[in-house]
Amino acid sequence: MLLLCFRCILFHYFKTSRQEATMRTLFHNLVFASLAALSLASPALEKSVAVRQADDLPRLVIYYQTTHDRSNNPISMLPLVTEQNIALTHLVVCSFHIQADYIVHLNDFPPDDAHFSTVWEEARLMQEAGVKVIGMVGGAAPGSFTTRTLDSPDAATFEHYYGQLRDIIIQYNLQGMDLDVEQSMSQSGIRRLVERLHADFDEDFEVTLAPVASALRNGANLSGFNYRTLETEAGDKIAFHNAQFYNGFGSMSSTATFDAIVANGFRADKVVIGQLTTPSNGFGFVPFDTLRRVINSLQATYGQIGGVMGWEYFNSQPGDLARPWEWAQQITSILRPQASVNLRITKEVADRLSAAWDRSVAANGEDSAEFHASQSTKPDYHSWINA
Ligand SMILES: *[C@@H]1O[C@H](CO)[C@@H](O)[C@H](O)[C@H]1NC(C)=O
Repeated sequence: MLLLCFRCILFHYFKTSRQEATMRTLFHNLVFASLAALSLASPALEKSVAVRQADDLPRLVIYYQTTHDRSNNPISMLPLVTEQNIALTHLVVCSFHIQADYIVHLNDFPPDDAHFSTVWEEARLMQEAGVKVIGMVGGAAPGSFTTRTLDSPDAATFEHYYGQLRDIIIQYNLQGMDLDVEQSMSQSGIRRLVERLHADFDEDFEVTLAPVASALRNGANLSGFNYRTLETEAGDKIAFHNAQFYNGFGSMSSTATFDAIVANGFRADKVVIGQLTTPSNGFGFVPFDTLRRVINSLQATYGQIGGVMGWEYFNSQPGDLARPWEWAQQITSILRPQASVNLRITKEVADRLSAAWDRSVAANGEDSAEFHASQSTKPDYHSWINA
């Protein structure tokens, strides 16, 4: 499925019981951390840095879920706009979770937790470089789309949880919301959610869905509702589909999955081909040379295709943990060679990024050697100053 649940992420990071104990302490301090984050809200960045906007098609979409490394230092997304030959159009910050009787979380924390200082500070720069930053709600962790939350038949209940989602879109200036429904939701419920998001935001706001590829050809689905029916009822309010062509639900080893989706009535330029960025993230990784061949064949048949999506950023091949942006360079060379989105960084911007990093790290608590052991992963933001 699209994502590791947040408990798995926890396990991934906090393998020893001592670290788990530290994590529990962090949870207990959450309220205080959130309050602290409010007072640390940073001043507006200078509007100095936009260089060129990537054309929308074909899209290059990357999910950014793992925000921290094993030492719990932030993972910078900025190489996606500072490195050459990357035509990124969308970054999907994820995963937001909505749960009954609870407040919205981004993975393990409220989105305004100081842990995410770097995420939000950098996301604003991505936007200034012309990349659309959207959110994603749902994924493998259940809860967001139940009859007690966003699929509630009760209007007041829907309003309550929808309001949480709307508020984070406003607070973080998200330019779209990806609905990753991996639990059974009603046909009327998904339509209501799509229509409401579309109605509440401006024309540029993009509502997207993240079905398994087979769901778009009337095959197996994880969402309970029919995507073709939704497209008929509300397709004009859906920007595109981040279809998962992996984990056995579709493949890019040939054109067959994409062909079947188009035959089922979906426009080729609304289907974004979801790929694993590394075999470590699931089942069905397709090598770059195969991907190039199949994409070129699809382009020959359909003209414009929707683009390519990658799940997920931090460990992408071929660069892996050290150089995860290289996946985006590979895909750019397939989709539209020579294109680039580049960012100009002033000293003031570099100062702010550096400070945001320090706040993120400081939020990890003062008593754990592990959390302070690998400051070496902090990007040298000042080396990127070019304006
Ligand atoms: C998929 O969606 C349909 C609705 O069209 C539903 O009836 C079906 O049971 C769903 N589930 C699976 C596993 O395909």
